[in-house]
Amino acid sequence: MKNSVATLAEMKAKGERISQLTCYDYSTARLIDQAGVNMVLVGDSLGMTMQGYTDTIPVTMEEMIVYGRSVARGCQNAFVVMDMPFMSYQVSPEQALTNAGRLMKETLADAVKLEGGKDVAEQIRAITAAGIPVCGHVGMTPQSHHAFGGFKVQGKGEESARRVLEDALAVQEAGAFAVVLECVPPKLAALITSKLDIITIGIGAGDGCDGQVLVMQDMLGMGDWRPKFVKTFANVGQVMKDAFAAYHQEVQAGTFPSQEYAYVKSDCSDDTLNILDREYGRQEPIPFSVVRG
Ligand code: KIV
Repeated sequence: MKNSVATLAEMKAKGERISQLTCYDYSTARLIDQAGVNMVLVGDSLGMTMQGYTDTIPVTMEEMIVYGRSVARGCQNAFVVMDMPFMSYQVSPEQALTNAGRLMKETLADAVKLEGGKDVAEQIRAITAAGIPVCGHVGMTPQSHHAFGGFKVQGKGEESARRVLEDALAVQEAGAFAVVLECVPPKLAALITSKLDIITIGIGAGDGCDGQVLVMQDMLGMGDWRPKFVKTFANVGQVMKDAFAAYHQEVQAGTFPSQEYAYVKSDCSDDTLNILDREYGRQEPIPFSVVRG
């Protein structure tokens, strides 16, 4: 069954936990969808996982759209959320609405996500007023890492905890259907969840949220570095490396492709090969002087 804002709200009401993973391509989207994961996030973390940048700042709308439409095509049931990249919504509610509209029209995703709390409430209001579901994102918001002085846990002291709570409330008040709580202390995340009617999705925020999200490459052991809050559910990174090395060795040894992997039954007849062999005598090498011009 296709997950929607209504089915996800129903899950929260029933106390059922919601699962979400990031995804950036069609093949993986199909696997995640077939596994029954409720939500997929086309995160701007693709700047790091797919493009090799050190943060999400350089990611553009055009890039998000290319990755996003591939993911949406792979998801029959999972609810697809598109991240709004840095500077695609901060400027004004009008800019935010225009770009949220593009993401929806050009990817066929189900919702958009943007980072920030009180500061982006007007943007969330404008987007939701146009009928586009919005997921907020508060706590450690990676697009603001320069302002935080690094990718640091937010909400530890009273002032910081109050800010995260008030940001989450502002996001809800502006009309969002869900909010990501990233890198906030577990008890604060649980408190925020108890104060909100909308869905909370935690990452590095403990077990007190309505749902959880992880970056797919992280949980598959594909990165060079594993944040403390990430569990490696399968060491796919190592499995891939082993497969690549085995392929390389077999190609070099000439053991791949063996007969098993060749179109032996539909091979050319000897007659055909003889005709071709006669007609296409070996080309004389081109004299060196001609190659050099
Ligand atoms: O971009 C992303 O992958 C995210 C998650 C970390 C929540 O925003």
